Amino acid sequence: MAYTLPGPLSREKLQAGKGLFRHGLRYDRAAKTSADRGFIPPAQMIVGRAEGDYVWDLDGNRYIDFQNGWATNPLGNCHPEIIEAVHQAHLRYGYHWEHPLRFELAEKLGEIMPGQQLPRFTFEVSGTEAVESAVHMALCYTQRRHIISFTSSFHGEGLGTKMISGYTSENNVYMEPWGGGVIKAPYPYSQNIPADMSPGQYVDYCLWYLETHIPSYITPADNIAAIIVEPGLAEGGNWIPSPDFIQGIRRICDKHGWLMIVDEVLTGLGRTGKLWGVEHYNVVPDIMVVGKNLSGGIEPCAGVAARDKILGDNPRASAGSTFAGTPAGCAAGLKTLEIFQRDNIVAQAASLAELAEQRMAGWAERYAIVSEVRCLGLLMGISFTHPDRDQMADDYDDSWVARTVRNEMLINGVWAICDTEPTVRMYPALNMDQQTFMQALDIIEAAIQTVEKGAELVGDYPPIPGGVTGF
Ligand SMILES: Cc1ncc(COP(=O)(O)O)c(C=O)c1O
Repeated sequence: MAYTLPGPLSREKLQAGKGLFRHGLRYDRAAKTSADRGFIPPAQMIVGRAEGDYVWDLDGNRYIDFQNGWATNPLGNCHPEIIEAVHQAHLRYGYHWEHPLRFELAEKLGEIMPGQQLPRFTFEVSGTEAVESAVHMALCYTQRRHIISFTSSFHGEGLGTKMISGYTSENNVYMEPWGGGVIKAPYPYSQNIPADMSPGQYVDYCLWYLETHIPSYITPADNIAAIIVEPGLAEGGNWIPSPDFIQGIRRICDKHGWLMIVDEVLTGLGRTGKLWGVEHYNVVPDIMVVGKNLSGGIEPCAGVAARDKILGDNPRASAGSTFAGTPAGCAAGLKTLEIFQRDNIVAQAASLAELAEQRMAGWAERYAIVSEVRCLGLLMGISFTHPDRDQMADDYDDSWVARTVRNEMLINGVWAICDTEPTVRMYPALNMDQQTFMQALDIIEAAIQTVEKGAELVGDYPPIPGGVTGF
């Protein structure tokens, strides 16, 4: 039976949050908008407990976890071996900078970096700081002033990473003067392809823009330090780039003497069914940013790996912070890598991804509300649209449909992400039990069927059962 959400204990916390947190007032506004449009108010919950493949909300309802702490728990929730390793590090070192685990983890990471060509590592606490550190080291190493990033990209919420990210124009309002050195180039994702261009033509256009347009009209090639790219665009809507695009970036970087920075904060450590996302494209970057999975879901651990020449002696490239590379964070990283190796975690992720691909094959053809299924390993996304989109008001936002599906999934026991984009994103643990994984996919398909039936009931903003959520 479907849960009625939020349950009383979650509701109490959500109510309290309205007066406490950023966007507290937005909940009321968004709930009113959804009610005005005939949607059922958002389904939400607060996590009360997490273990393995599941989370339970404060009211005791259980969910299969496809949200994964925003893709941060590669081995499932609260992995006991990682908790124990972190505990031991706390007991032994408390907090000090000069501890042996940072050496051990840096050495291990050097061994597993793409092509074993990024032997040097600098620790940071979060992906945000690591991206900023990577960009700074590129500017200092090349002694140039510009960086190229992509529209729809997401690199974090720091001042620098906000400017580098390009997922909406709104994101940079009031900060325009801070972004002077960032050049935003188009990322060839399929829903925003200009009319009459094939996906392949658009990739060619985007590469031409990098190779020719920017150096000719924006700033000379020798004033550009690097291109930063996600080898699988996650937060910006789960878009999977083609080999032509990623390999084209490597070629252009080599031609112009630019560094290639790959942001693997979300794609790294098995999420895409290979250890690193770039392995799908057979390229070795000059600088690679890691975070999320490296912490094993227990204790923050992030950083930047780079070629010897870039980090070996780069005097202006300062980095790090007090809590970068804590004993506990490094212990979590070391134990995570040990379990990855021992239990063949990347192979497990690849085989779950194969099952998902078979299970979801044909959904875009079968269901009018599904516009595309896009997966690279367990970087999984389904984008949605209204079946009568052509007849809807111009301001109709397809994310309403996606949120409704996500809501329907939630009340039936699968927790996934739907942010501002018209996409439900799913990041199961890489070692999820196969039966649980398949059960979740059954629930997801049933949710799509329910919403599809409701959507046919029509109206300008049809009363799709399940309501909206995700803000
Ligand atoms: C690709 C990418 N880079 C950087 C970040 C920022 O990482 P953090 O939230 O750990 O600061 C994220 C976060 O989602 C991300 O997806």
